[in-house]
Amino acid sequence: MSDKPIILAIESSCDDTSIAILRGDRVLSNVVSSQQIHNQYGGVVPELASRAHLKNIITVFDSAIHEAQIKKSDIDAIAYTNGPGLMGSLLVGISFAKSLSLALKIPLIAINHIEAHVLAHLIDAPGKVKPSFPFLCLTVSGGHTQLVKVSSPYKMDVIGSTIDDAAGEAFDKVSKIIGLPYPGGPILDKLAQQGDASKYNFSDPTQGKYDFSFSGLKTSILYFLQKEMRKDSDFIKNNINDICASVQSTIVTSLEKQLSNAVEDLNINQVAIAGGVSANSGLRKMISDKVDLGWEVFIPDFQFCTDNAAMIGITGYYKYLEKDFTNISLVPMPRLKI
Ligand code: KG4
Ligand code: ZN
Repeated sequence: MSDKPIILAIESSCDDTSIAILRGDRVLSNVVSSQQIHNQYGGVVPELASRAHLKNIITVFDSAIHEAQIKKSDIDAIAYTNGPGLMGSLLVGISFAKSLSLALKIPLIAINHIEAHVLAHLIDAPGKVKPSFPFLCLTVSGGHTQLVKVSSPYKMDVIGSTIDDAAGEAFDKVSKIIGLPYPGGPILDKLAQQGDASKYNFSDPTQGKYDFSFSGLKTSILYFLQKEMRKDSDFIKNNINDICASVQSTIVTSLEKQLSNAVEDLNINQVAIAGGVSANSGLRKMISDKVDLGWEVFIPDFQFCTDNAAMIGITGYYKYLEKDFTNISLVPMPRLKI
């Protein structure tokens, strides 16, 4: 038997109910139940999200225990997302975590969801090469866009960020404008792969050296499409692949520009991407190509890009090592930052 702790981790910050079990830094199970109910509304409806978490969490818990082949009494600590996220969604995971901690008489560990996206890179697996410190991480999700210098599992500094919409939000909002179902990012990505990225030019989302503004991009695309649709009402339908490819290229090129500035200025050549948008094919290709410039790049497995509890578990493991436990009276923090 290993003497590494067994951590049960819970993620419920938005619309994915997920529970993972880790032994030390290895994942034994990582069960994710993605809520489909929001698709018909074109975005996450907070009230429906919390109800769905409540409905799903027991089944997800049972599956995670079953897949990990452990007993409840084997668990050494409970890690859970304390923020940022939707208040009602967070409350479901937190209440479940607190109940388990009390029932099993084991410590509770509160986790910052954005730090967890970054630390997903420390999950171990046979043959996996992990970044060493310091490394740079570009975290791009539906709620966040940040350039982070990671000096240790316990020290992260934000170098740059978006001043308005997140990169994933930009993908989703543009998708909505062109009539794609929610969440549009993955569908836009698929269509982009058959399109010409140089066909249309949109406004550059970069701000200064390390920051971004994606809300201006969405507006410029909206005006461009309205103008073209006045001339040809089938413009979107006839050019959808090229529109998607051009939008994706604009977003990825802006991420590339700011990331390259940070690599150069901070003189760090270990570079990781994290968060839901790190599943994007254009972003994965852009960063992979940087190997030619001497960058050492780290791209997460697809299962650790979008929201998952394994990333909460690995962050919990590092906090467990420091005995950084949480008082049961801690409340959720929907606007928690790094
Ligand atoms: O990390 P995540 O699951 O949730 C948040 O913490 O926000 O990220 C979800 C975001 C959504 O905006 C979704 O459209 C985007 O990630 N996303 C993608 C792709 N897969 C997911 N965006 C572009 N291309 C993709 N392949
Ligand atoms: Zn996330």
